[in-house]
Amino acid sequence: MVRAKEMKDTDFRSDLMQGKTAILLFEKASTRTRVSFETALFHLGAKTIFMTPAESQLGRSEPLKDTARVLSRYNDCMIVRTFGQEKIDELVRYGTIPVVNALTDQGHPCQVMSDLLTIYERTPDLSKVRVAWIGDGNNMANSWIEAAIYFRFELFMAFPQGYEPDKSLLTLALQAGAKIFCTNDPQMAIDGAHYVNTDVWASMGQEAEQKRREKAFAGFMVDEQLMKYAAADAKFMHCLPAHRGEEVSEGVFESPASIVFDQAENRLHMQKAILEWIFS
Ligand code: CP
Ligand code: NVA
Repeated sequence: MVRAKEMKDTDFRSDLMQGKTAILLFEKASTRTRVSFETALFHLGAKTIFMTPAESQLGRSEPLKDTARVLSRYNDCMIVRTFGQEKIDELVRYGTIPVVNALTDQGHPCQVMSDLLTIYERTPDLSKVRVAWIGDGNNMANSWIEAAIYFRFELFMAFPQGYEPDKSLLTLALQAGAKIFCTNDPQMAIDGAHYVNTDVWASMGQEAEQKRREKAFAGFMVDEQLMKYAAADAKFMHCLPAHRGEEVSEGVFESPASIVFDQAENRLHMQKAILEWIFS
């Protein structure tokens, strides 16, 4: 966190990765993650190669384990956005270079790291922070749970019934002493929160469930009414892209309390810190 902030403050550039290549293997759409990683890698001197299944032999059924071994012979790291977490695990098992999780159905760790940087800039003592999560128990929710183990902030989460996060991860986090409280009542979860988080109701790959989810998530929109229960100077956070009129109202999204574009900017600084941590 400290290093990412330092890199932000100094508009950090280096030749740490001079002569190295990073392959970005993306099976899902991306704006922020792709562009912030490509820019961060450029700032550190590396060249990037962007690849999707559609334009590689992966799309013609070449096994992932073979792809992992081939890419490891050319590149210095893989940055991967995919569906099942087991695909990342397979790349790690068969590849011989570092693999960075750029989002799976299970988690989005790089996003949560930059979200924590966004909080840290405002409240350096994270143990004094109460974060609310209002919405789906999806990849972002899982990564917030994981972060609560290491960073010791309070995490109050509300999900509709049937849309809870990974049960075994939650159990593990609670056993590790993470301060997490779960409910089905958004009002209860947001009460006194300093930072209010939400995310789309249907994540990438769940588009067919959109209508069903809109019904299940009724009452879970973070709007002006709900924000009244948060702390007086509470901030609104969203990893983006956002669906206004679904998980967040236009008014809250565009309000002075919204720090979503600081979060987006911090992706760049945090990616640099992550890459430096891997390569030094
Ligand atoms: N927040 C995030 O990961 O955005 P992208 O899907 O645009 O990369
Ligand atoms: N939960 C969202 C996050 C997008 C950055 C998704 O997986 O689509």
